Amino acid sequence: MIDAPAPLRPEELQTLLDQLARDAPRCFGEGRVASYIPALAEVDPDQFGIAVCHADGQVQCAGDAQTRFSIQSISKVHALVMAMQRLAPEDIWSRVGREPSGQAFNSIVQLEVENGTPRNPFINAGALMVSDMLASRLVMPQHTLREQVRRLAATPTIDFDERVARSEMDHKARNAALAYLMQAYGNIQSDVELVLDTYFHNCALAMNCIELAKSFAFLANRGINPHDGTHVFSEVQTRQMNALLLTCGLYDAAGDFAWRVGLPGKSGVGGGIVAILPRRMSICVWSPRLDSYGNSIAGRHALEGLVSGLRFTPMG
Ligand code: DON
Repeated sequence: MIDAPAPLRPEELQTLLDQLARDAPRCFGEGRVASYIPALAEVDPDQFGIAVCHADGQVQCAGDAQTRFSIQSISKVHALVMAMQRLAPEDIWSRVGREPSGQAFNSIVQLEVENGTPRNPFINAGALMVSDMLASRLVMPQHTLREQVRRLAATPTIDFDERVARSEMDHKARNAALAYLMQAYGNIQSDVELVLDTYFHNCALAMNCIELAKSFAFLANRGINPHDGTHVFSEVQTRQMNALLLTCGLYDAAGDFAWRVGLPGKSGVGGGIVAILPRRMSICVWSPRLDSYGNSIAGRHALEGLVSGLRFTPMG
């Protein structure tokens, strides 16, 4: 039997992170920033940040790791965490599936074919369904989510970018179509406009790589938030969430991401990607230029580099 290799020492990991930040500009020629939400198009596209939060809460970073950006779909994980903490499993999984969709994150085709039940909680339809679960149970769902994220990241200044939230509401047609279609099937319990407002605010949270990596550290630490010792998830829920991130976190590019990176992950059209190395670390990379699937090009590239530089990955 081969012994498990020792993890990189902090100074070795720092050298690797610095190298990845130096190499990132090679990807700056490719891809475009998201522009279907006009407020997102205003970002400087040629930026790159990376942060790692170890299972004990220690952080290492390189590049533009302190610049806040729009976390977008990464917030779908925080929202699902809140639903899994509050609802019985059958009350969640009878309303949303756990299978990869193989379709774009905002596709509407499958939703009608499958009678208004979204394939998984990370495509837009599924996240709208989770927003409905929260909106029908909480008095101020978006503020509860903001409090949760502030606690997970141990950063009380995290807030919504109201310009982004408004821009999403002003260009809501596709998400509104998804939500109203689910309502037509009798699957939405709250007011649809409240569901949309909740969802858009979640997506409009502004955070930097360090804060995002910190907010996901509990998924690398068996469900315990290392910043304050609280139990966010049970060990079983932690495994379940990581499995769902591996199969569904990068939409119709989930298979390719698993092939190249091999870690549970979640992307957002703000250019962020979060990944988990279970029991070791959570990672956040950010670079705004996206591929045709809506995933950060330099971000994914850096994660490939990080994984090849680590001596241990869940895939062997
Ligand atoms: O609803 C939307 O389309 C955006 N607020 C979020 C989409 C997103 O981040 C997809 N991720 N790659």
